[in-house]
Amino acid sequence: MKICIALTKGRLEEQFLNYFRTLSYNIDPLVNKGRKLSVETENFQFIFAKGVDVATYVEHGIADIGIIGEDILLEYQPDVYNLLPLPFGKCRFSLAEQEKKGVKRKQKRTIATKYPNVTTDFFRKKGESVDIVKLEGSVELAPLLGLADAIVDIVETGTTLRENGLIVTEDIHWISARCIANRSSLKIKRELITPLIEAIFPKEEIR
Ligand code: PRP
Repeated sequence: MKICIALTKGRLEEQFLNYFRTLSYNIDPLVNKGRKLSVETENFQFIFAKGVDVATYVEHGIADIGIIGEDILLEYQPDVYNLLPLPFGKCRFSLAEQEKKGVKRKQKRTIATKYPNVTTDFFRKKGESVDIVKLEGSVELAPLLGLADAIVDIVETGTTLRENGLIVTEDIHWISARCIANRSSLKIKRELITPLIEAIFPKEEIR
């Protein structure tokens, strides 16, 4: 029996594999995987998917463990066991807009985002009523083209904002990569999963 680990494709996949390698796991079969979406190593089956789909695979027990951005957990609230934060994938949810000095703010702003639930929650707590436009990516375009007055998005290095003439006006939430687990897998595959979790997280932090 192998543990199935779902990885979020892209930046997080790369950061996790680098981290995993430092824990002395052999990830050689993953290095030249090309466009394969499922790869087996001696002890694990790795699958590669978009963040929200990682949550779905873990929720349904297809994957035992998932590596995912906390942004996805906050937005979609999947029914999974949410383990501790990982030491990479650190970024923040921010509100950003074009730097326009002396321009009076509209009474009801339009906010573009990939995260309508996080955005709704943020503005509800602020007591500001806004219109939300859901986009699937490259959200930074929306204020430049007049689709929205501001965006709520994740900011990591700040490069995308800077290169598109946007500035952060408020930080909403610091986030990092998280390790999630299927609730039944934690019981059924306990003997296999426990050593992995203990390796991933420093001992004193295990709850
Ligand atoms: C994310 C995010 C920002 C960018 C921030 O997008 O939505 O656009 O990264 O990173 P930075 O602060 O380091 O520039 P992603 O690359 O996931 O693509 P997407 O916009 O198409 O979703």
